[in-house]
Amino acid sequence: MAERPRLRRVAIVGASLAGITAAESLRARGFRGDITMLGAERHRPYDRPPLSKHLLSGGWAADRTQLRSTEALAGLDLEWRLGQPAVWLDPVARDITLADGSTLGYDAALLCTGTTARQIPHPAQLSGVHTLRTLDDALAIRTALDRSPRVAVVGGGFIGAEVAAEARRRGLSVTMVEALPVPMSRGLGQRMGQLCADLHLRHGVDVRCGVTVRAFEGDRRLQRVLLSDGATVDADLAVVGIGSVPATDWLSGSGIELDDGVVCDPFCRTSAPGVYAAGDVARWHNGLFGVRARIEHWTNAREQAIAAVGTMLADYGAGDAPAPYSPVPYVWSDQYGSRIQVAGRPSPHADAVRVIHRDDATDATVAVYRDGDTLVGALAVNAPKLLLPYRRMIAARTRWEDALAVR
Ligand code: NAI
Repeated sequence: MAERPRLRRVAIVGASLAGITAAESLRARGFRGDITMLGAERHRPYDRPPLSKHLLSGGWAADRTQLRSTEALAGLDLEWRLGQPAVWLDPVARDITLADGSTLGYDAALLCTGTTARQIPHPAQLSGVHTLRTLDDALAIRTALDRSPRVAVVGGGFIGAEVAAEARRRGLSVTMVEALPVPMSRGLGQRMGQLCADLHLRHGVDVRCGVTVRAFEGDRRLQRVLLSDGATVDADLAVVGIGSVPATDWLSGSGIELDDGVVCDPFCRTSAPGVYAAGDVARWHNGLFGVRARIEHWTNAREQAIAAVGTMLADYGAGDAPAPYSPVPYVWSDQYGSRIQVAGRPSPHADAVRVIHRDDATDATVAVYRDGDTLVGALAVNAPKLLLPYRRMIAARTRWEDALAVR
């Protein structure tokens, strides 16, 4: 029988939430070998949710987004290679090449490179058009907001909604451009999407739905946005939040299976021995819902990193056999002082949603979603405590009628 390879060197590609969580989890479970953290950005791991919230408002300085203190990081005894994107992985030689041409050997590698922001092509010299993914992106948008621009947000998803809320808090004029008939409707359905859209309308955002951007126009600086219906919107700042793309370009041709992300088995193993993936970039079969998908949320980056490390250690004989990773997705968003939380996989079909709680005084709403006769999702606006039991019931595959009976 072939001898099981020993685990001495772990390479973690992607120095963000999943990456640092994996490093901590390896150490917490007794791994004493070498851990190298590779990061494309020059920053140590920082938290992304505040980028479109507290950092944009100026309430937080950039330092406050750091995920771990200098002392905590030192205690992990990691080797850092920051500001150098990985450009190639050879799963046979088991090494990774960085942009500066250096290579790094590994026994096991964890891929957590996340996503990049989808772009709308525009003239390269046109300043004032931004996407928001990194700390540097957020700082640039904050500087732009400080100049009191007229703002266009392109995309009525999480980024568009949070940037619009901050811009309105500053009293700026904001136009939201959303391709679908109702913002957030792809995930939440039209009725609940409209609930989110109403928040923006109530706060004075000019919401334009069913249109996209035909062009950004201006003389070196953005001056106006030309829409697909022929309308123009005067704007000095555009923030484009039209979704994201898994950061896998550097892996094409490596032999690792890719398909809208790094394809994994239910235990976070990629198609290459010794290579695992976690966070936004990983696409795997979630047995709880019977779907193959990626999850682009903070909670998943943490939980999946821990799961992937569990599999890695077990594969190298240093831990118990893992369970399939089958979480309930969870995401939250803060807009105009309202907290929106989504658990599970809401179905966008009109007949799949039922509003089970509404309180006009607190502007609170709870809605639940079905797939056949099973509860699969829940949405809470300003009702965090009411969401909790539904998260548990989604994990337990509770029957729809039983879930409705709980009040
Ligand atoms: P998103 O997927 O949440 O929303 C994209 C929106 O843009 C959708 O409503 C879509 O219909 C629309 N759209 C797509 N193409 C368009 C076009 N050409 N013109 C106009 N509208 C178009 O993606 P978003 O907001 O860019 O966020 C990116 C990532 O960041 C997501 O993974 C999101 O989960 C994450 N994020 C999460 C936050 C949170 O958890 N609170 C906050 C900010 C970002």
